[in-house]
Amino acid sequence: MPAMAQRVAPFGTTIFAEINRLARQHGAINLGQGAPDFDAPPPVLEAAIRALSSQLNQYAPNIGLPEARAAIAQHAQRFYGQSISPDQVLITAGATEAMFAAILGLSDPGDEIIVFQPVYDSYVPNMRMAGVAPRYVNLYPPDWTFDPDELAAAFTPRTKAIIINTPHNPTGKCYTRHELAIIAELCLRHDVLAITDEVYEHITYDGAQHVRLATLEGMAERSLTISSLGKTFSATGWKVGWAIGAPELVESVNRAHQFITYSVATPLQAAAATALQLPDSYFEALRADYQRKRDWLLAMLQSAGFQPLAPQGGYFIMADWRDAAPDHIRDHIRDDVQFAEWLIREVGVACIPPSAFYRPEEKARAAHFARFALCKRDETLQAAAERLTALRVRGA
Ligand SMILES: Cc1ncc(COP(=O)(O)O)c(C=O)c1O
Repeated sequence: MPAMAQRVAPFGTTIFAEINRLARQHGAINLGQGAPDFDAPPPVLEAAIRALSSQLNQYAPNIGLPEARAAIAQHAQRFYGQSISPDQVLITAGATEAMFAAILGLSDPGDEIIVFQPVYDSYVPNMRMAGVAPRYVNLYPPDWTFDPDELAAAFTPRTKAIIINTPHNPTGKCYTRHELAIIAELCLRHDVLAITDEVYEHITYDGAQHVRLATLEGMAERSLTISSLGKTFSATGWKVGWAIGAPELVESVNRAHQFITYSVATPLQAAAATALQLPDSYFEALRADYQRKRDWLLAMLQSAGFQPLAPQGGYFIMADWRDAAPDHIRDHIRDDVQFAEWLIREVGVACIPPSAFYRPEEKARAAHFARFALCKRDETLQAAAERLTALRVRGA
């Protein structure tokens, strides 16, 4: 009898793990994974150390430490003018657990949830484990816009929710207020919930505005807003996240959360309270630093022969690799996975093949793209540049 349950057998191992393994094996500079190779800011680290030596080492309350929930509510007020009570905040093990608990707590087997494709890799497996069917709506390059008619057609009597990730991984799309209004109108018309994943909320470029769907007319009662500490405070390993919403939604998510993790690392929640109360200047400096990295990597990829699409937010740049690969190589590379493997082996730079964000029958949509992470030290980006620009010379 096979040991592995049928529930998880189809998931396989993720391409992310495979790319990391190959990158290690070939000593490649890793612009694959969306994790900074620099540390969290000192005040945040110091707050965690203080918490560890202040007897904050036992279980936190199931819904989260009161000071962390208060800080999350204040953060929502400061950046989005959202008035919420700390009771409307649930602390989870990262945005990842928040999403899984949301899907389990808000939908029933046989329901449908709409996602935009490319789609962050955990959502659909979460749905499958919950017995929920995904409905896909495409985002089309180069602007990663959606067709409102295609979206409208995805709503059926079985639709329970729609998931929106903005700023978006992997494309860097920031949904505009107008696009969110189209989504909101459909949610209201069909009595559907919106679950937003806003982990890149503070990383936006060229003046793009991150708009919180929950703040649109009529959406406060039917939105669950998910975010986390990882990206904003360069502490992805902490896995402290949260879900904010109307009391009934948060209670539903907590029914699942209480039996998944029960509660989240107490000292890190205490540090989260400090982090979220850092002055505006912290968030402005973060944005400026990422803008500089994005501009630099964009120009570098261009000069290496790629055709990158400028992201409006987030950690990544999607780039068309076809003009970057030397002619004799291009003819032998079938898709983005082969390109990524070739780049690691022969050039020594790792990227993620974005077909990982498409369902099997639509992976060809991403065949000519590579996703590069820009959340890296300048030295790392510089070292990658040296290897990638040599590619052009070698191809000539
Ligand atoms: C869109 C998106 N959601 C969620 C996560 C994971 O968030 P967390 O580490 O808080 O679970 C990531 C990390 O890459 C992400 O890109």
